[in-house]
Amino acid sequence: MKTIVGNWKMNVGTRESVALARGVLLALRGHKRLPDLVVCPPFVALGEVRKAVARSHVALGAQDLAAEEQGAFTGEVSSRMLVELGVSHVVVGHSERRRLFCETDETVNRKVIRALSAGLTPIVCVGEDAAARREGRAREFVAGQLRGALRDLRTRHKDRVLFAYEPVWAIGTGEADSPADASAMHAWIRSLVPELLPGIKSDQFAVLYGGSVDGSNAYSFLREDEVDGLLVGGASVKLSEFTKILESASEVLENRTE
Ligand code: PGA
Repeated sequence: MKTIVGNWKMNVGTRESVALARGVLLALRGHKRLPDLVVCPPFVALGEVRKAVARSHVALGAQDLAAEEQGAFTGEVSSRMLVELGVSHVVVGHSERRRLFCETDETVNRKVIRALSAGLTPIVCVGEDAAARREGRAREFVAGQLRGALRDLRTRHKDRVLFAYEPVWAIGTGEADSPADASAMHAWIRSLVPELLPGIKSDQFAVLYGGSVDGSNAYSFLREDEVDGLLVGGASVKLSEFTKILESASEVLENRTE
């Protein structure tokens, strides 16, 4: 299976989010095989987008959640509030949260634990910065983030975790990783996860790629066996681009025999 996640960031309000969600539903029509699809509008649009995608196979994701369960945390949104809104997935540890909002591996870890205990599927973002890549330390960097994010975590068999490998230098820059390098990193992540989460089964987690994915390169990533799907930022708020990405996913799935 392939999973496509659209991270709409702070780019669209409620009205535009609903229009985008409707456009996505239209784009899915007529395909024999569809990827799993998750849309992540801003918090304020979740309620309306939920109505727009009701009775479809599009899942609702949030872009973040509070590390705390409840209480005096002005401005925060808790896992329980998200569940109440029909959210099933939540992005955790996006590089923008780490870089601009000072989230550490420890915060990410607390958020992952919070998400799983509320029954949400965390989309755990990891990825090296340009210096680590240049210096040949990308794997080490990503392994450190994974170790931090998954510390003291115990998964139950109903839990599912999505990992998004997003090299920081590729996010929003128009300079995507090569499918071959991304695949190699995915294989590394796939081999590390069972070490860090003993007992996790291969069907309980998936590894997505993110960073300057658009309609022109989506297919080249999705046809890689190691790439279970894509986390798309900028191109997910451009309906024509996102449609091309969804079509690429359908094409890859339709060409498969399994
Ligand atoms: P981008 O963003 O697709 O605009 O590079 C990806 C992301 O931030 O998840």
